[in-house]
Amino acid sequence: MKTVMTVVGARPQFIKAAPVSKLLRRQAREILVHTGQHYDANMSELFFAELEIPEPDFNLGIGSGLHGEQTGRMLVALEKLLQEHKPDWMLVYGDTNSTLAGALAASKLHIPVAHVEAGLRSFNRTMPEEINRILTDRMADLLFCPTTVAIHHLQREGIVRGVYLTGDVMMDAALHFSALAESKTDPFADLGIDRKGYCLLTCHRPQNTDDPQVLGELVDAFLQAEKTLIFPVHPRTRKMLSQFDFWQLLQKAPHIRLIEPVGYLEMIQLEKQAEMIITDSGGVQKEAYFFGVPCITLRSETEWVETVQDGWNLLVGHQRERILDALNHFQPAGEQARHYGDGHASEKIVDLILNDGHRSP
Ligand code: UD1
Ligand code: UDP
Repeated sequence: MKTVMTVVGARPQFIKAAPVSKLLRRQAREILVHTGQHYDANMSELFFAELEIPEPDFNLGIGSGLHGEQTGRMLVALEKLLQEHKPDWMLVYGDTNSTLAGALAASKLHIPVAHVEAGLRSFNRTMPEEINRILTDRMADLLFCPTTVAIHHLQREGIVRGVYLTGDVMMDAALHFSALAESKTDPFADLGIDRKGYCLLTCHRPQNTDDPQVLGELVDAFLQAEKTLIFPVHPRTRKMLSQFDFWQLLQKAPHIRLIEPVGYLEMIQLEKQAEMIITDSGGVQKEAYFFGVPCITLRSETEWVETVQDGWNLLVGHQRERILDALNHFQPAGEQARHYGDGHASEKIVDLILNDGHRSP
């Protein structure tokens, strides 16, 4: 039986790993390692409980820090675990510092690396995620691409071996958990929110949160919006809103509801009922598309170009006027295509890992 070491650490990785780990454990031994990059209960434990992800075998407890410090501490800890357990595969997800640390620790020890969500590019190297993606894809032996665009990005970088179009595991998660969400949770009752007539807002990219001028312009736009905004606030954003004295302003606005980060089952219900979604999150842009909700993205580029090309996602950056204009006037174009697969990406991924990159007959 093969041993696969899976490394996760940040909120979106728990969601991506949930459907894959479930299948993997039926046919292989999985050693699940949580780096501890996210550690608040509502950024971590809640997802393990709601999505029935097994307890991590190891929690490295790395926590927050500067990029080098955080990634470095992960590397040291992961190297020890890899030497001790000698897995057949290292499995990493997405583009966080936990992804990079997992891939780098394994590849230096000649342990093959499988990368879920390979080939994504924003072509913006000031994003830490873009560096993490490029480097992880360079090191990976199996590259599981969610879209054909991702395959083309890799081809342009000369990466063609071990590359597979699998579809998107977030589509698997959205389909699977949608069915469960309503029977298990009711965020509208819990939070006292009307099921209709609101926009859902998330914002956590450092380029939006860490510069007071940029964050100030965003806050201005949110304050002037003529819509009800439900805003589950990421801990990075909460910290920066407080640091730059914007928190109280938002809290006082009658049309804005600041809430703690919610679980995935709550989040997908909030997304589905929203009139519009405003976000800078990668995952949330796609979920808006999956659920047919128009999306305004607080960035000037996106990795998920299909959502923009199909007319369901509008890139507005952080400029107040563009955001307000989009909130009042953006109408999605209509047709959607199946860019993100059929909800069976996890099966293809597990099959390829177990067969060392060969498709089952
Ligand atoms: C990280 C990922 C980003 C991903 C996001 C998902 C990197 C470089 N970034 O960004 O790609 O989109 O996760 O949410 O890997 N904090 C807490 N409690 C927590 C976690 C974080 O208070 O449980 C606060 C700390 O002040 C910390 C800050 O949030 O310094 C940022 O956390 P960090 O994990 O470094 O980056 P994210 O912005 O969460
Ligand atoms: N999400 C959640 N609760 C929240 C905000 C987001 O469950 O309060 C989910 C969201 O539905 C999506 C994922 O977290 O599946 C996206 O993670 P995030 O925005 O933190 O990171 P990104 O996708 O930008 O890397």
